[in-house]
Amino acid sequence: MDRLRFAAGDRVRCKVSAARWNRGTVIQLNYREDHWPAGRVAPYQIKLDNGTEIYAPADVDDLIRADDGTEDFDPAVEIHVCQSGPCRQAGSEAVLLEIEELADSVGGVVVQPTGCLGNCSQAPNALVVTDAAENLFAKLCDLSSSAAVVERASGRAPSLDDAAMVARLERARRLRVRMQAREESKWNLALAGMAEDVVRASSAEDRVELLRDQADLLAAAGFGDQ
Ligand code: FES
Repeated sequence: MDRLRFAAGDRVRCKVSAARWNRGTVIQLNYREDHWPAGRVAPYQIKLDNGTEIYAPADVDDLIRADDGTEDFDPAVEIHVCQSGPCRQAGSEAVLLEIEELADSVGGVVVQPTGCLGNCSQAPNALVVTDAAENLFAKLCDLSSSAAVVERASGRAPSLDDAAMVARLERARRLRVRMQAREESKWNLALAGMAEDVVRASSAEDRVELLRDQADLLAAAGFGDQ
């Protein structure tokens, strides 16, 4: 077996997600959990500075690095947007799109889809993860609530002055609600606001596409040509 690079008590930086590195201290070598199959061992158990205990599955620089305290690294703030069942049914795909676009406009935030955050009854949900804390945002039912998530994560309020962007994101959300309603055969909900969207369409192509969707929905709902 190769010699391990760190000893108990060494200060290290650990990769804790796609974009985050947290500082901590090695507290155990050759760590095992009871439910692991025989022979499985993780080289290190680490106590992060935020109190969480994790293990490093391999002794490689991509996962765990020495930390002499001199390198100043700025841990990225992350927004995790739930894309599991109840959140998806409540429009979380549109929430992800909104948060990605708003976060892009302010910068410094990593946005990623995630699994269930354990708050399904208040869907759709997103979690803001910083070095110091995790904050759950629930019932993200409109663009301004998505903007509040981005503001909390970045410390900067994204501008909602771009009327074209706001209209595009709101339309994406209505489209998502419509698709979900159609999947669940909730025809009134699926058709709600569609006539207004046709009137507000920003181009002839959009209008034709919306009219086609509307005709499809009416046919699926049993109101098509007999
Ligand atoms: S499905 Fe999103 S919190 Fe459970």
